[in-house]
Parts: sequence; C-alpha cells; structure tokens
Amino acid sequence: MDEGSRVAERRRSEQLLERAKRERERAAAGGLWSRRDVAGRLAWSLFGIFSLTTLLAGLRSAFPRVLFLPPSSFKAGLPTDFAVGEVSEKFKKDYRVWIVREPDGFYALWAKCTHLGCTPRWLTTEQKFKCPCHGSGFYRSGINFEGPAPRPLERLKITVADDGQLVIDKSVKFLFEKGQWGNPGSFLKV
Ligand code: FES
Repeated sequence: MDEGSRVAERRRSEQLLERAKRERERAAAGGLWSRRDVAGRLAWSLFGIFSLTTLLAGLRSAFPRVLFLPPSSFKAGLPTDFAVGEVSEKFKKDYRVWIVREPDGFYALWAKCTHLGCTPRWLTTEQKFKCPCHGSGFYRSGINFEGPAPRPLERLKITVADDGQLVIDKSVKFLFEKGQWGNPGSFLKV
C-alpha cells in the first residue's frame, strides 16, 4: 500500500469514528430514545391516565344521577269542575288516580289493583272498575267484589288548597280493611 492509500484509509477511519461520536452525542441529547427515556415516558403516560381517570370520577360524583319522580301532591282543579256522580279519569294517565264525585263530597282512589298491581279500567256503563289482568272487579266505592283481588282499592288524601282547588296527596293512603276510610282526609265533604 503506497503512502496515498494509507492517508485515504486513515481519513476514512477518522470519518467513521467522527460519525459514531456524533450519533452517541445525539442519543445523549435525546435524539434517540434510550432505555431510561422509554421507561420515563411510560411512567408519565401511566400517571397521566391515572390522573385523568381520577378527574373524570370526581366530575361524575359531582353530578350524581338523579331519578326525578312525579311530585306526591298535585292540584286537580275546582270542585265545580266535577259533575256529581262522575268518576274522573282526568288524572289517571299522569298520576294514576281517579277522583270520584259523590253528592256530598269527593274521594280519590289509587288506580292500582290490589291483586298484582295492574291498572284497572273504569267501566261507566257497568259502574265498576275492572282489572284487565285477572278480572278483579271493584265497585265505584273501591270495594272489591269479584276476581282474585284480596282487598279494596286504596284511597288517597284529598283536601282543598287556599285557592279552592282540590289537592291529592298520594303519599297518604287510607285502607278500608284498617278502618281508615273514616279518617280525616279520606273523604272531602263539600
Ligand atoms: S292484577 Fe288485577 S286482577 Fe290480577
């Protein structure tokens, strides 16, 4: 090998060494991921996921799921809105309540069959409540007289508000078999 070739060979070796050195420096400066970098980034990612999950859980507990129930009391209009002898189904769909107008007053019946809880129908021509599920029948008073229902329908508290409207309170019930149909609120005299 002549002198020129040896010089060229030395230069090539120096260039290779120089390139290797530059790559090491780039890796040290973060240009390439070292094992320590990967572990660090993984740890931060896990920490980020954990923090986000905790934050979401906190936000969720700040807005609890609320079940909105219909109010237990409602106004049913003026006594003059009801004809004597009428069984009003105006409030059956929204409140599951019948309002019965007798010559001397009112009572409210809960439209829930005392057998297994179906909603009976008021049959005007037969003047009775009839349950479509298993055939129980109730007089307009709410007393059961046919089918498997073991006891009368339940009455609900009925009063008059300051503005003269009827108020039905579904949270207060009166049971015939407990002698409660004579209690104040079970019948509204007018
Ligand atoms: S639920 Fe009414 S008769 Fe059975």
